[in-house]
Amino acid sequence: MTTAYDAVTARIADPVVDVILVGDSVGNVCLGFDDTLPVSMAMMNHHLEAVARTKPRALLVADMPFLSFHLSPDETIRNAGGFLQRGADAVKLEGGVKRAQMIRALVNCEIPVMGHLGLTPQSVNAMGGFKVQGRNADDALRLLDDAHHLQEAGCFALVLEGIPAELAARATESLTIPTIGIGAGPNCSGQVLVFHDVLGLAGGHHPKFVRVYVEGCQLLQDGLSRWAADVRSGAFPAPNESYRLPDSLRDPIANWTPSEVSAKSNIL
Ligand code: KIV
Repeated sequence: MTTAYDAVTARIADPVVDVILVGDSVGNVCLGFDDTLPVSMAMMNHHLEAVARTKPRALLVADMPFLSFHLSPDETIRNAGGFLQRGADAVKLEGGVKRAQMIRALVNCEIPVMGHLGLTPQSVNAMGGFKVQGRNADDALRLLDDAHHLQEAGCFALVLEGIPAELAARATESLTIPTIGIGAGPNCSGQVLVFHDVLGLAGGHHPKFVRVYVEGCQLLQDGLSRWAADVRSGAFPAPNESYRLPDSLRDPIANWTPSEVSAKSNIL
């Protein structure tokens, strides 16, 4: 699974992955926010619609942003249902047993739900920062309990983020639904990374669990620099990259003077 936020990223990702997630990571990856908390339903709908227009063959999952699934089952169903009406196949939401009631309400309305446990970015303030979770006995056992509560509530899969590999492995072997890991070691059923991280487009520091497969920023900047150099030297555009007038118009255009413009505009 990887993320996509627009038609370009969706078209690149779709032939490669099984699941495309329109993540609320759009907030920090594309929109310049420090975290995902400012991401709204309107922003998510805008990005989901762009991805859905490409009609991906991969399963299309839309991420429920902060406060879109907390207030009431009615509002949660309306928000998640709106995602499905815009082309998503399923929704993802963060949190453990506290969210089980909302998950049941969604599943009851035939809305497939992917859960998300561990280092859940929408809980950054409650966690006191972006910190690996499940490193003490209470937290680790709570995570295993939460995973089973989410499975029991009807989730069809679980993202496990930022937890020790052994804990993710134990959750995976004890569940019947698949787990998708990010910073959760190799023993999950699948893996997810943010598109821009895998392809070196994120810039700056990246966390330990990210492996960059292409230096995308450098590659794209090299291409852009070669184009800018050609523009400055006059090598771009070449004759075969330009449109030509028909021969019959060459003389009138060559003989045209600005005074003809004023004469014509007076008549008009
Ligand atoms: O928003 C997102 O991109 C995510 C993935 C990192 C799982 O939730």
